Amino acid sequence: MPAISASAPGKIILFGEHAVVYGRPAIAAPVSQVQAKAIVVADPRRTPGSVHIQAPNIDLEAELADLPQDDPLAAAVVGVFTALDLTRPPSLKLRVTSNIPVAAGLGSGAAVSVAIIRALSAFLGHPLANEHVSSLAYEVEKLHHGTPSGIDNTVITYALPVYFVRIDAQDNIIETFNVSRPFTIVIADTGISSPTAIAVGDVRRAREADLNRFENLFNEVAAITQATRKAIENGHPDALGPLMDENHDLLREMGVSSPELENLVNNARTAGALGAKLSGGGRGGNMIALTTRVDANHIAHALQSAGATRTIITKVG
Ligand code: PMV
Repeated sequence: MPAISASAPGKIILFGEHAVVYGRPAIAAPVSQVQAKAIVVADPRRTPGSVHIQAPNIDLEAELADLPQDDPLAAAVVGVFTALDLTRPPSLKLRVTSNIPVAAGLGSGAAVSVAIIRALSAFLGHPLANEHVSSLAYEVEKLHHGTPSGIDNTVITYALPVYFVRIDAQDNIIETFNVSRPFTIVIADTGISSPTAIAVGDVRRAREADLNRFENLFNEVAAITQATRKAIENGHPDALGPLMDENHDLLREMGVSSPELENLVNNARTAGALGAKLSGGGRGGNMIALTTRVDANHIAHALQSAGATRTIITKVG
């Protein structure tokens, strides 16, 4: 059996993070400059049914049987076996690599799951459809996030800009939409690792303590996200700058910004970005800045000088 590989991109949330956990819309886009990759190869010399997993980026080399059930890589593998009703899988080796920074809001966990699910199901002769890939990746996301909205697994599986609304665990509105004029985003990493589950948990507690204030914040974010979609579809990406700034202010009010994010957001604006905001769970991780194509390098350099540990220039659409 030949080796089978699959890869999946990173992602950024352009608008609507956190509010999306509470049924408001969000817009996300794939980031193809970073990728997770899974390779599956048969290993007939080993005991039948054994699955050997290597993930050098996280220093993991183990047998599936020795990993805890809630290990995300193990959960993705077992999810595929269960979906395919496979009680006795052939012995195989799975190697997972990724250059997506972990716990940085770029969807590393979901990308690794999607790559594993695609490579393994194809290797087993039953490549799964996008919808199924996304729902299996969502189950693994629960181990990372606790109460994920589902936006990460969705945008990464479809690898297209998506407008996403969570209805419930089983049902989402997922719409890909027309980007009439592509636009350029600079992504900059604070270098601070920030597990999404912590920020999501803090927002949940803060919302419980002050329901009205948080529902209003989420509604304001929803209005911004709707306006964004219209601007993107109608070919006015310049209009996104002020909307990003407003979304960032609301995220700060939710308590998910940090001094490091504020520093990069302010520096991006000073360097001439059309707008800037944190992206993803917040507290650390990445921020994004809207820029013209010609200004992108200049803004990326300004962000590096301001302390960004890594910058990526990406085009949406
Ligand atoms: O995985 P991250 O850090 O991009 O965060 C996901 C965005 C949140 O809205 C904060 C959580 C979620 O599940 O949608």
